[in-house]
Amino acid sequence: MGFVVRTAIVYYSYTRTGNTHRIARLAAETLRREGEKVVPVRIRPLKEAANFFAQCAEAFFAKKPELYRTLLDFKDFDRIIIGSPVWAFKPAPAINTFLAECGALDGKEAICFVTHAGGAGRKNALEILKKKLAIKGACIAQTAFFRGDETSEECRVKLSKLLTNPS
Ligand SMILES: Cc1cc2nc3c(=O)[nH]c(=O)nc-3n(C[C@H](O)[C@H](O)[C@H](O)COP(=O)(O)O)c2cc1C
Repeated sequence: MGFVVRTAIVYYSYTRTGNTHRIARLAAETLRREGEKVVPVRIRPLKEAANFFAQCAEAFFAKKPELYRTLLDFKDFDRIIIGSPVWAFKPAPAINTFLAECGALDGKEAICFVTHAGGAGRKNALEILKKKLAIKGACIAQTAFFRGDETSEECRVKLSKLLTNPS
């Protein structure tokens, strides 16, 4: 049997909307079709801000809310995909906590994506994710944006290009 790539998809998605969750699910489907082993991990803060302005403030000031623990061990994975909504031009706060606490990612291939509405700040949010991943030692292979209202078919096409033709 050949080498099977093992990918962890770590993402935050606000409970009431779920756009990033949808992309993470479609990404998992795409990779599984390629015969890869995929483990999606949805991270959640113990206290999830539910008020738009509180969410924006937490994101803007790069807060790190405490998260429910995950059992993820990166030793078991070759690649990590990080997904986040854009909040106030930045990644969602839960992702800050995760990347601060996840330990070294030396030599792991990393892909990051953000989901957004109008798109303001999407590049900035991706740059922040890329920097945080690079500090951890990960090799950034690809990045992508997804507008929240893109159809699942449009997203599947983008994901297929993103995940199955690494540049
Ligand atoms: C607090 C908050 C701040 C947001 N800020 C932005 C923003 O700066 N730019 C943007 O394009 N979309 C922004 N959005 C829209 C979300 O990025 C978009 O709806 C995203 O797909 C939500 O993903 P989710 O459903 O997985 O949480 C914001 C949404 C929220 C709740």
